Amino acid sequence: MAATEPESPWQSKSGPHVQQQGGDVTQHVPVLIEPVVEWLALKPGHVVVDGTAGGGGHAGRLLECVLPGGRLIAIDKDPAAVARLKKRFEGQPVDVIHGDYSEMDRILAQFGYAPVNAVVLDLGLSSDQLVDAERGFSFLVPGPLDMRFDPAVGEPAWKLLERLPERELADLIFRFGEERYSRRIARAIVDERRRRPIRTTEHLAELVCRCVPRSRVHPIHPATRTFQALRIAVNDELGALKRALEILPDCLVPGGRVAIISFHSLEDRLVKNAFRNDPRYLPLTKKPIRPNEAEQLRNPRSRSARLRVAERTAQNGPIR
Ligand SMILES: C[S@@+](CC[C@H](N)C(=O)[O-])C[C@H]1O[C@@H](n2cnc3c(N)ncnc32)[C@H](O)[C@@H]1O
Repeated sequence: MAATEPESPWQSKSGPHVQQQGGDVTQHVPVLIEPVVEWLALKPGHVVVDGTAGGGGHAGRLLECVLPGGRLIAIDKDPAAVARLKKRFEGQPVDVIHGDYSEMDRILAQFGYAPVNAVVLDLGLSSDQLVDAERGFSFLVPGPLDMRFDPAVGEPAWKLLERLPERELADLIFRFGEERYSRRIARAIVDERRRRPIRTTEHLAELVCRCVPRSRVHPIHPATRTFQALRIAVNDELGALKRALEILPDCLVPGGRVAIISFHSLEDRLVKNAFRNDPRYLPLTKKPIRPNEAEQLRNPRSRSARLRVAERTAQNGPIR
C-alpha cells in the first residue's frame, strides 16, 4: 500500500486552537464512527473495550449500542484523557482505566473481566493532545518538546534529540516519518544542539523548515513528518501495536470483533499482516475502509484514516 499522508493540523482550515491542559470538554472529532458501529455488530448486554478512549467519541457511541445490560471499558494512556472520561461517564456502566492497550489482557484479568465481545483501537493522538501547549505534539503550538501520551512515563522528545547519534536520528525520521530529507534534518539537529539545546516545538519546527523545501504537490507543513516520527518513537507506538495484535485474541470471545483505525502505512501494514497471517483472526474487511468525501471535508484529520476489522476465530495460536 502506498504511504498515507501523515496527519497534519496544517490541513485544518482553522488550525489548532490552543487550550490549557486538562480542559473538560473534548475537541476531538471521532473518525469513521458509523462504520465502526456497523462492523462491530454490538448487541445490548455486550461488553466492549475502547483501548484508546481519548475524548470518548467512539466510546460513547459504542456504549449506546450495548445498553441496556452491557458495559464499556474505556482505556487510555493519557492521564488528562482519563480524568475527562471519568467525568463524562460518571454514573454509567463504564470502567475508565488509565493503562496501555498493549496490556489489555492483564488489565481485563486484573479487573475481573472475562473475554469481551468487541475491542476498538483508534491509533495515534487526539485533537485534545494536539492543541494542548504543554504536551508538545504540534509544530504550530509553542511549547516544551515532550510528546509523551503519558507524561509520567519514558523520555520526552527533547531528550531523544539530545541523546541520539546523527545516524540514528536520520533513521528514525526516515522510518517513522517517511521523510526523504531525514539526513539533512538529522545533520541540522546535531549542529544546532552543539550551539544550544532544542527544547521547544517552535525551535524544532523552525529548524526543520530550513531543511525541507515546501512541496507544491503535497502542501503539508514541512515539519509534519519529523514531528510524526518523533511522536511514534517517543511512545513506541509500533511496538505497542505489535504487542496488542498478539494479545488481542486472548481478550475476545470466539466470534468477537476487533476494529482498528490507523493513520499511516506503517500501522496499517502491521494490522493487515496480523489479520491475514494469525489464524486466531478472520479478516472481515478485504480492503481498509476509508472515510467518505463528506467526512473528509467535515474533518480533514480523517483523510488518512484506514479501518480494518477482524473476527476472533475459535483457533488457538501459535502465530504463523
Ligand atoms: C485518536 S485518539 C482516540 C480518540 C477517541 N477514539 C475518540 O473518539 O475521542 C488516540 C488516543 O489513544 C491514546 N493512546 C495512544 N497510545 C496508547 C496506548 N498504547 N495505550 C492506551 N492509549 C493510547 C492517546 O492517548 C489518545 O488519547
